[in-house]
Amino acid sequence: MAEVKIEGVKKYFGDVKALNGIDLTIEDGKFVVLLGPSGCGKTTLLRCMSGLEKLTEGKIFFGEKDVSNHAPKSRNVSMVFQSYAVWPHMKVYDNIAYPMKIKKFDKQEIKKRVMDTAKLLGISELVDRYPVQLSGGQRQRVAVARAIVLEPAVLMMDEPLSNLDALLRVLMRSELKKLQERLGTTTVYVTHDQVEAMTMGDLIAVMKDGVIQQYGKPEDIYHKPSNKFIAGFIGSPQMNFIDVEVKKNDSMHLLAPGIDVECTPEMSEKITRGGFSKLIMGIRPENIHHVADKNAIPIKGTVYFSERLGAETIVHLKAGDMRIISRIAGDEVFEEDTPMNMYVPPSKIHLFDPESEESILD
Ligand SMILES: Nc1ncnc2c1ncn2[C@@H]1O[C@H](COP(=O)(O)OP(=O)(O)O)[C@@H](O)[C@H]1O
Ligand SMILES: [Mg+2]
Repeated sequence: MAEVKIEGVKKYFGDVKALNGIDLTIEDGKFVVLLGPSGCGKTTLLRCMSGLEKLTEGKIFFGEKDVSNHAPKSRNVSMVFQSYAVWPHMKVYDNIAYPMKIKKFDKQEIKKRVMDTAKLLGISELVDRYPVQLSGGQRQRVAVARAIVLEPAVLMMDEPLSNLDALLRVLMRSELKKLQERLGTTTVYVTHDQVEAMTMGDLIAVMKDGVIQQYGKPEDIYHKPSNKFIAGFIGSPQMNFIDVEVKKNDSMHLLAPGIDVECTPEMSEKITRGGFSKLIMGIRPENIHHVADKNAIPIKGTVYFSERLGAETIVHLKAGDMRIISRIAGDEVFEEDTPMNMYVPPSKIHLFDPESEESILD
């Protein structure tokens, strides 16, 4: 096991700046998720950590050791890919045993470890089958078993669940998480799926355009996104973004059609200090309620559309020419075109600088 430290790492492919200055410390034993849209550099960063790509600039340490120029096989890391990459001509047993055979472990030791690992993954009964005789989920378990059989210092997984169906993905994400907790192996997990990131990561590094935008605990990323991109990337349906004007009379207000927010002292102070006349207000759909609340900020509008999902209803409220999406728990009917007031607790308001898109509150 090892701590991984990435310092000023850049990776260019010709003109493409896949990684543009990455600094990241992954503590020993942690489960860290690299989260971001397709093309933001997640796979490239994993490949740099594993030694499959040469760095353009910067350094990578495993513990105290500078491994920047070490070959993959001397880094003691292993990878699991989206495509499983299990060998079709080998039985499950031999697939799992393969890394040990390469390293010339003796037969008894191989047998013991392969069977122990298969048991851990719940595939003991399958060791005599060929991959073609397995389901997608079972094949992915074989790939994970093969990756951990040698007890790597760092386990890396690149979108390992994206080829599985939705139900299996939910099951496997809890199993992988539990497995990692049991093994305590430092794990770096790549995904573009924010739910996987939120549910699996001890820490999440949100990436965009080859840069880490925010690194923190899932709850901090969710509650205190440091910019509009992160705020919009985490959460479904997406956070509502509303252009507001700052008006100052006796007290400070944020105004948009159907919305008049009296600023809290903290908001007023930050707005005054930044000299803002316009802002982008962010409100998560799950923070909008329809039960009147005198301590909350009202939003006046009409019901445009509602999606009844059974356990909750997604209500699209029309206010001026804006569409504001809310998630209302329960199975209530909201008639289209009827006036409706929604309520938002002031503490749930996010504010972003319209120029830099950075959060001004957190
Ligand atoms: N071998 C390569 N040659 C040229 N460009 C590459 C190569 N690998 C990745 N890239 C580019 O680097 C960027 C980051 O890619 P990647 O790390 O695969 O993103 P992600 O895994 O987040 O989807 C993309 O613009 C991609 O096209
Ligand atoms: Mg990728």
